[in-house]
Amino acid sequence: MAIRKITEYPGEVLGKIGQPVTKFDQELADLCVDMFDTMYDAEGVGLAAPQIGLNLRLFVMDCEGTKLIAANPEIIATDGEQSSPEGCLSVGKVPAVVVRPMNATLRAQDEKGEWFEREASGYAARAFMHETDHCNGTLFIDHLPKLRREMILKRFKKEKNWK
Ligand code: NI
Repeated sequence: MAIRKITEYPGEVLGKIGQPVTKFDQELADLCVDMFDTMYDAEGVGLAAPQIGLNLRLFVMDCEGTKLIAANPEIIATDGEQSSPEGCLSVGKVPAVVVRPMNATLRAQDEKGEWFEREASGYAARAFMHETDHCNGTLFIDHLPKLRREMILKRFKKEKNWK
């Protein structure tokens, strides 16, 4: 399959609410293979369709033993709290501490259109929420206070210029 180009901040598609996935066909299955390939190549633990320029509610992840495809994802329950560093392939993996719930339940469809629910804790729960956010046009930096967000973006731009 193929490694796709990752859309980086401030790519317009990253700020859009994704369109629902409606066709669960071979094309979608192939797209998911490309998304896994792209994610592993970039050494990420999750990748959402807007990150490869597609305005779609779809993500893949492989994080601490939780490997799945999620179409039309929703977070249906959360509890607790965690405060850990988080990064994003679209923001050069520059890390920032984001406060999120400790546990999350994801509801989504697999590549065949079957609905499922999955619970996760810690890092994998963080991935559920981070990737579902991407499907809603939200980046992890949007959860940060303005000054910290600006600091992260400054570092990202600086590192980009070095490359
Ligand atoms: Ni991300």
